[in-house]
Amino acid sequence: MCGIVGYIGGRDCADVLMDGLEKLEYRGYDSAGIAVFEKNARSPGGTISTVKTRGKLKCMADKLAAEGKPEGFCGIGHTRWATHGEPSDINSHPHSNGRVTIVHNGIIENYTELKEFLSEKGYSFVSQTDSEIVACLLDFYFDGSDPLRAIMETVKELRGSYALGILFKDFPDHVYATRKGSPLIVGLGDSEYFIASDIPAFLKYTKDYAILDDDEIVAIDNGGVKFFDVHGIAVKKQIHTADWDIEQAQKCGYPHYMLKEIYEQPDVVEKTLDSIITDGVPDFSGIGLTDELLRGVKRVFVVACGTAMHAGIVARYAVEKLARVPVAVEIASEFRYMDPIVGEDDLVILVSQSGETADTIASLELAKSRGAKTLAVVNVKYSAIARGADMCIHTLAGPEIAVASTKAYMVQITVLYALAFRFAYARGNILESEMKRLTAQLYNAPKAIRDVIDNKDECQFIASQLVNVETLFFIGRGFDYALSLEGSLKLKEITYIHSEAYAAGELKHGTISLIEHNIPVITVATQRNILAKTVSNMEEVKARGATIIAVCRKGTEFAEGTVDIELKLNIGDELDDMLIPLPTVCALQLIAYYTSVLRGIDPDKPRNLAKSVTTE
Ligand code: F6R
Repeated sequence: MCGIVGYIGGRDCADVLMDGLEKLEYRGYDSAGIAVFEKNARSPGGTISTVKTRGKLKCMADKLAAEGKPEGFCGIGHTRWATHGEPSDINSHPHSNGRVTIVHNGIIENYTELKEFLSEKGYSFVSQTDSEIVACLLDFYFDGSDPLRAIMETVKELRGSYALGILFKDFPDHVYATRKGSPLIVGLGDSEYFIASDIPAFLKYTKDYAILDDDEIVAIDNGGVKFFDVHGIAVKKQIHTADWDIEQAQKCGYPHYMLKEIYEQPDVVEKTLDSIITDGVPDFSGIGLTDELLRGVKRVFVVACGTAMHAGIVARYAVEKLARVPVAVEIASEFRYMDPIVGEDDLVILVSQSGETADTIASLELAKSRGAKTLAVVNVKYSAIARGADMCIHTLAGPEIAVASTKAYMVQITVLYALAFRFAYARGNILESEMKRLTAQLYNAPKAIRDVIDNKDECQFIASQLVNVETLFFIGRGFDYALSLEGSLKLKEITYIHSEAYAAGELKHGTISLIEHNIPVITVATQRNILAKTVSNMEEVKARGATIIAVCRKGTEFAEGTVDIELKLNIGDELDDMLIPLPTVCALQLIAYYTSVLRGIDPDKPRNLAKSVTTE
């Protein structure tokens, strides 16, 4: 959601900013802009040139070509995902009032009050954004000589969340930044420095970076980088080195990131397993998640959003089945405001790819404040959730660029299965031999996923049957229901086809009235213990004219006439039914991907969506 990039160094700034913004495109945006100190503006009162426009970066590139690219070595850039005010040239960032130019990610909740205050002081506004207020407030507090003080005074007044990149006209070749609740990192190159919302924006130039913490301020000039706390006291920061390489953040010949990320799944599952399995069993004692702790847990909450929350539903079925501990799966935006009954006997698991999702961060804080033990399952190292939780398991999916999450979900459920096995063992519900057997089965998943990818033609065929439909349903029971939720979300977010997922037995309690002739019902039917029940539900919708697409194990037989299209996964006894979601979700991802492509949509950047939801 919004991307920020800033640069100071010896390269052409506009090129670096545009390149960085392109790497942040995955975050979702509807307009873009840059502001650059003109290279001849190295004395106070220098010129800052701003170019911004509604639309994608291609529109920016066209505008830069038409109007001339600002020439300079220091500047800030932004991709905007509209919150206050429609996507338009005027509402695009950077915003400026003459002396101060800013880019902003987040939401200023008290912007109406601040606008009134600033209006009384004689300020006027050109955009409908909350962000422009910040430029004016900075100007109000700026005495012409002390940018740091202006920032300190300004942030005292702001409520909400923000990451800010700031240029002061009187301080050419200086970039300032601060943040609260929205991510911002500082890239440290060789005599060149960056600010960015995420690592890929500068990975091409440096792997070294520092994380700006909430309320900290960074001041950067050609001489280097200085960090300050909210009181203006200098702080020393830890330098991290990114373990991603540039290829991981590129398409590498694939038509889309989403397809590349689907193909990477067998490898990232293996890598993630290797990081949590010791001597053939899951072992989390290194992060403090000991058998003793697991034995003492009375209840588990899995709190997350979207796809990560769907991973929690898989976890619920696995943990309850094996460890016999009650598990509640909660949507983070609900959990944070529902005054949950949660306390010190509970384990709250926060699942997140980005580790920066605003509602999940707030849920983590709430759980901590109630004394619960908190465990993060997070893909992005050093992200807010990874750092904030008592314990953290890192999933090793590598950078996930496509908006629709695929490989991150895959490794989330991999880790959560392993956790379920250890949980069950720690509580005496399964023997070590069973924990070993289940772990060995998890290691069979990569091959099974590869097999689904090798047989992608079948998913392509199903996609060709869905390309013109307006609405469809996914149904399933147990783990198949968890998969239906995820398959349906994946499909609707990147194809814009209306899709709903139902527990198969629930459909006839209302929704079956929507079933008409030829409405596709994708039935996930991999769970053999309840197959007969699922088949009954298939028959019910078939009798009302639905087209049935069944996703099942090899060897599953349906009565003649029940199923219109079968996708039989080539999976035998190497995977228990409990683990079959691993390859099955890959098939559902491929169906969504190919349907999106056939409908002429870019699956990597679906409309209205942002990769990292840093506002609530
Ligand atoms: C859907 C998708 C989203 C995210 C959700 C949480 O494909 O990617 O539903 O899963 O926004 O994001 P993270 O995992 O970063 O907390």
